[in-house]
Amino acid sequence: MSTEVEYKPGLEDVPAAKSAVSFLDGKKAVLEYRGIPVEVLAKESSFEEVSWLLIKGDLPTQKQLAEFDHDLRQRRAIHFRLKDLIKCMPADGHPMDALHATVAALGMFYPSHTVGDPAKNWEASCRLIAAMPTLVAAFARTRRGEEIIDPRSDLDHAGNFYYMLFGKEPSPATRKVLDACLILHAEHQMNASTFTARVTGSTLATPYQTIASAIGSLSGPLHGGANEEALRQFEEIGGPEKAKPWIEAKRAVDPKYKVMGLGHRVYKVKDARATVLQEIAEHVFAETSRPKAYETALELERICAGIYGPKGIYPNVDYYSGVVYQALGIPTDVFTPIFAIARVAGWLAHWTEQLVGNRIFRPEQISIGKTDVKYVPLEQRA
Ligand code: ACO
Repeated sequence: MSTEVEYKPGLEDVPAAKSAVSFLDGKKAVLEYRGIPVEVLAKESSFEEVSWLLIKGDLPTQKQLAEFDHDLRQRRAIHFRLKDLIKCMPADGHPMDALHATVAALGMFYPSHTVGDPAKNWEASCRLIAAMPTLVAAFARTRRGEEIIDPRSDLDHAGNFYYMLFGKEPSPATRKVLDACLILHAEHQMNASTFTARVTGSTLATPYQTIASAIGSLSGPLHGGANEEALRQFEEIGGPEKAKPWIEAKRAVDPKYKVMGLGHRVYKVKDARATVLQEIAEHVFAETSRPKAYETALELERICAGIYGPKGIYPNVDYYSGVVYQALGIPTDVFTPIFAIARVAGWLAHWTEQLVGNRIFRPEQISIGKTDVKYVPLEQRA
């Protein structure tokens, strides 16, 4: 390939697909799912409704939503052999690794090999949305030596997930917070994990392999894994009064030190989702005293706005989600799996879109290695 073609590291500004799933304006902090602002959906909608909206393209009618909700509730339970598999996993393993493996295994218990059949694709989509919370909750419990709690079909998606994690129903306020968090994380245009899903889907891999690939991509600390790192960072700082000396010390060692939960390839202002999550945090902490981690996050944001604001580096979705999850009692390393439970809706929407007029992804590279090298037999090498 000619080296005259401009190479853009990280494919910055390079369109990878035409998509109608969501719209993002990073200069104005606008994020819309199928044209509807995410702030409105977080307040007015439910994760179930948003999943339908993303995958099908329009808001469901009452009948469609009732049927979809029923279908999800019927698909929450997992095969007993899958529970055995989860029980065999190392207790100190990361929940994202467990989710990656069990989502791939889900495809062995509920095979879906006819990727071209829309009815089978929809069936697999429902299975994935419905069963991923069960997989996450099951591993979160077994590694603590607790029994797996089977799903209940009389609770909604968010309420049932909380119940499977803790063995008790959430309060209406907690259920709403969790539901809003799922909505806020459900879709975000051509991010790394969505791109991964589209690439894997373009090979006509099964939906389970497609979503497993995306889970692997989401797990990294530069992407979804930043939510747990952000909370650990606030805890490491140890209090708002220590935020300034902490960032100064980090920058003295490494002037390019990356603050977790800040920065985004597309946003040059504060991420709309971070703003909503901060409002949710304020709401949650209005009932209790503000935890130290949250006070630290607020002060660090203020200090970093002065340092990084001119570069357009502001809080992203991962900055405040952790303090909210911690307030709900969720273990830190389960934050990113919750992101996956939500983002599966967006991944499936992109996968569905990718399959229409699909063409396999096969980009180019600019070759910089040696060519025409003579093979030297092992015994002749110095
Ligand atoms: N803290 C300090 N400086 C930062 C940060 C940060 N978190 N993020 C970017 N910068 C600076 C870089 O040092 C660089 O500065 P320079 O121009 O002087 O060299 C400039 O901003 C551009 O940064 P890049 O890393 O080139 O930006 P890119 O678009 O490649 O990366 C990313 C985006 C990965 C999100 C980056 O901002 C980052 O690493 N943030 C921390 C991890 C994080 O929070 N990830 C979650 C993102 S949201 C999500 O995926 C769900």
